[in-house]
Amino acid sequence: MKAETVSEAVLSRRSIRDFTDRPVPLQVLRRVLDTARWAPSGCNFQPWEATVLTGEPLRSLQATLRAAPPQDPIEYVITPPDIPQEYKDRLAATGAKQYGSMGIARDNVAIREHATASNIVSFGAPVLLLCHIPRVMGLPQWSDVGMWLQTVMLLLREEGLDSCAQEYMAMWGRLIKQHIGIADEEQILFCGLAIGYRDEDNPVNAFERERAPLERQLRFIGFGEEQEA
Ligand SMILES: Cc1cc2nc3c(=O)[nH]c(=O)nc-3n(C[C@H](O)[C@H](O)[C@H](O)COP(=O)(O)O)c2cc1C
Repeated sequence: MKAETVSEAVLSRRSIRDFTDRPVPLQVLRRVLDTARWAPSGCNFQPWEATVLTGEPLRSLQATLRAAPPQDPIEYVITPPDIPQEYKDRLAATGAKQYGSMGIARDNVAIREHATASNIVSFGAPVLLLCHIPRVMGLPQWSDVGMWLQTVMLLLREEGLDSCAQEYMAMWGRLIKQHIGIADEEQILFCGLAIGYRDEDNPVNAFERERAPLERQLRFIGFGEEQEA
């Protein structure tokens, strides 16, 4: 179903981990990416860059990744070390829901093997957008790229399309850049974005997700009671 309002796009977007093989027309992708150019960025740098693959070039990338171990050293630190327990709990809760929906035992080896295999093929998505960032950019520009990615994901919903961001891809960042002709000295491979149509019948696309309550992370200051409506 297509999202018709911004709220519908936000609420109907979820990370899809099983796609149908229905192809995605280039003109739809171009429309989405053309509109997403209007995402905001500090200094109007527009620091996002991406390469979009489908068909044989995508299949050949997947075959290359399947045959290669994750790179060392890593492309960038994906999960910060020493994060407080609250964040570890959120990851564990999400993992339990996701793997529970697939009937995969809570066993680290089984989970890692499944995550690697399914991420490498981008969950069967017919299109993979690979998002790279010029190395000269800093933390604020990474945030800009995040805004652009979310803009893309919401616009995809308006077209009835689905997605799943994939930082997993950064584990093969250098190999991917080699495959798509991007200079490793110049760009960091941030993430993939699997794009396609969701398989409505797979429970992995339907498990209940959790979010922290509003007051856990937000404060309101200076609002009178009369403003509460
Ligand atoms: C930048 C980014 C990278 C992500 N990388 C992966 C990934 O590699 N593999 C994966 O299965 N999900 C990945 N996700 C999806 C998150 O796990 C997901 O957004 C989170 O659990 C919230 O669920 P939701 O997107 O369904 O609302 C990523 C999300 C973001 C924003």
